[in-house]
Amino acid sequence: MNVMHKNKDYHLSANDIIPIELQTIRIGIIPGFNLFLQNMLDNKPCYILYNKGDHVIEKSHIEELQNNKVENLYILKSEQRKYFKYVEVALQRIVNENIDVKEKSYLVYNVAKNIMLDVFDDPRSGTNIGRTRIWVAGTVDFIMASEGASANMLSMVSYDYYTYTHCVNVTVLGLLFAKYLGLNVDSMHLIGAGLLLHDIGKTQVDSSIIKRNGRLSKDEFVEVKKHVEKGVSIIKQIGGLDDGSYYPIVQHHEREDGGGYPCGLGRNEIHQFGKIAKIVDVYDALTTRRSYSEARKPFSALTTMNGEMKGHFNLQYLKQFIRFLGSGEVFH
Ligand SMILES: [Fe+2]
Repeated sequence: MNVMHKNKDYHLSANDIIPIELQTIRIGIIPGFNLFLQNMLDNKPCYILYNKGDHVIEKSHIEELQNNKVENLYILKSEQRKYFKYVEVALQRIVNENIDVKEKSYLVYNVAKNIMLDVFDDPRSGTNIGRTRIWVAGTVDFIMASEGASANMLSMVSYDYYTYTHCVNVTVLGLLFAKYLGLNVDSMHLIGAGLLLHDIGKTQVDSSIIKRNGRLSKDEFVEVKKHVEKGVSIIKQIGGLDDGSYYPIVQHHEREDGGGYPCGLGRNEIHQFGKIAKIVDVYDALTTRRSYSEARKPFSALTTMNGEMKGHFNLQYLKQFIRFLGSGEVFH
């Protein structure tokens, strides 16, 4: 096979490198990261530089690889974020390719994590907000078209809590739940974009409070609560979000019994997207590992939500959510 750039000094082990699907490679584009081929040498894998990051991949290269039954190329772990950004641009095409649903779920989830790292790094960037909308469009396509999307996407959800992974988890859970409830595609676009950005206001709250282990003082809690209004104000300044997408941001801490914030809205005043956002937000917070508590099992989290926290949620949606998780076989 025509290995374009023979390796000189790469002594890479399997620990330095990760496989990627050949079908995610885009033709006629400079990838921006090095691509490697795997060879077996004395029963051990070794990696040969196949395409330097600044070289265009031609159609003939891909065809040659396909003719040689190559399914995977390899990239450096250190260039993984570059790869996810490269996949992001073609996500809508990739989710429609004949790629294993597990791999698609992995890409969809990690592309979102990558976007959200950038959003939290630069929350006032209009470009980053635009990226979230494109991701939602690709992800809704994937979720609606793929039979196994639900179970696979749920298995991706991270158990370690960071604000940016929480946003991705909440969005994935919320979109899958929205599909279960029978929301239409337009509604899924709206709720998805809002869920992804629901905690963006946390970038404007003192990080020492956000990262605090354990209890907050009354004043600190007042500060944390401001993340809702601060989030709305950031998004309004940037623009580019549809009106319906504001509901998850504005209402994810409102409670059915009127005891929530920032407005203390009652049952009839909370939008459907706000009710869904409240449920998936609390569920993800309870089932991920925090610095001050272990991740709760789904059953235990739902018992709390349906018990001592009952007044916080719309009970019809909570019942449906419990059924949805049961149907997704996430109880473990
Ligand atoms: Fe929040």
